[in-house]
Amino acid sequence: MQNLIASSLKYENGTLSVLDQYLLPHQQVWHECHSVETMKELIISLKIRGAPLIGLGASLLVAHLAQQGGTQAALAKAIDELEATRPTAVNLMHCMATLREALKSDDFVAAVVCSAERLFIEDIALCERMATRGAELINSGDNILTHCNTGALATAGIGTALGVIYKAQQQHGNIHVWVDETRPLLQGGRLTAFELERWQVPYTLICDNMAASLMAAGKVDKIVVGADRIAANGDFANKVGTYNLAVLAHFHDIPFYVVAPLTTLDTQTACGSDIAIEQRNSAEVRGVSGSFGEALWAPTNANVYNPAFDVTPAKLITAWVLDTGVYNKSDVESGALTALK
Ligand code: MRU
Repeated sequence: MQNLIASSLKYENGTLSVLDQYLLPHQQVWHECHSVETMKELIISLKIRGAPLIGLGASLLVAHLAQQGGTQAALAKAIDELEATRPTAVNLMHCMATLREALKSDDFVAAVVCSAERLFIEDIALCERMATRGAELINSGDNILTHCNTGALATAGIGTALGVIYKAQQQHGNIHVWVDETRPLLQGGRLTAFELERWQVPYTLICDNMAASLMAAGKVDKIVVGADRIAANGDFANKVGTYNLAVLAHFHDIPFYVVAPLTTLDTQTACGSDIAIEQRNSAEVRGVSGSFGEALWAPTNANVYNPAFDVTPAKLITAWVLDTGVYNKSDVESGALTALK
């Protein structure tokens, strides 16, 4: 397989490595990944994360195993196991379905390797197209609020929602970003802040519960978020807390944009209530851990509710920014998304 290098995932000279996103920004540790067990652990623990990236990481591993002499049966089992690691982001299912198809080929090794390479390279182009389309919706001087991490760390390219923000800053300048810290795992505080700092885009970090007062004060011009799965009717799942922002945006009359590649669109899923929402372990809410160590502040056995994602209904969305175009509510109501697949 050719060398493939992204911000947090690389295949270089026959070795697959993942940048540990749980330890960022204070430690930059790359893990080599040679087995299905290791990749499953990296995905489940969110050391590799973000809808596009988990699909690409799993794909590169399957391609690597194919090159190492894995049988069709072993590779099929690997695909099934990797697909089951996280249930919400459909990009993982899309990648695994692509490789399953390649596995049927007589020359399955070449077919799997070629498919994995293509998925990775395509993702870079998808990011670029979303960013170009999305940047047209942003004006110089905008204060943009975003949630979770949707940047280069979460994709092979420049990102989805954060890619739009980056492109807007390059093209128009004078952009400022309000970064939701994104409890419980702090992808905003750990990762988005880290990326914006590297990109020199001015930002201010806030706790999630500060968004409402900022909007009331007229300090948010636009909200731009990513997605883990968009249903046929336009409802979408994204990091828990996204729905809160959409409700607030509606109340304050602030444009609310969702940015995602076509690989996040799942027209087999009719609406948001059909999207499986991943439930995660209680420790993530009882405290926090990372490169700084561990803190537990709640009672050790406190009851916890910890869905990783929530669903935002289509009626709260101003526009869907995909690599193929920007779609408004009436486009979506008249079947624009279903027509894309
Ligand atoms: O649990 P995570 O960190 O994988 O969740 C990521 C998100 O919710 C992102 O907003 C989404 O994957 C879009 S990213 C390009």
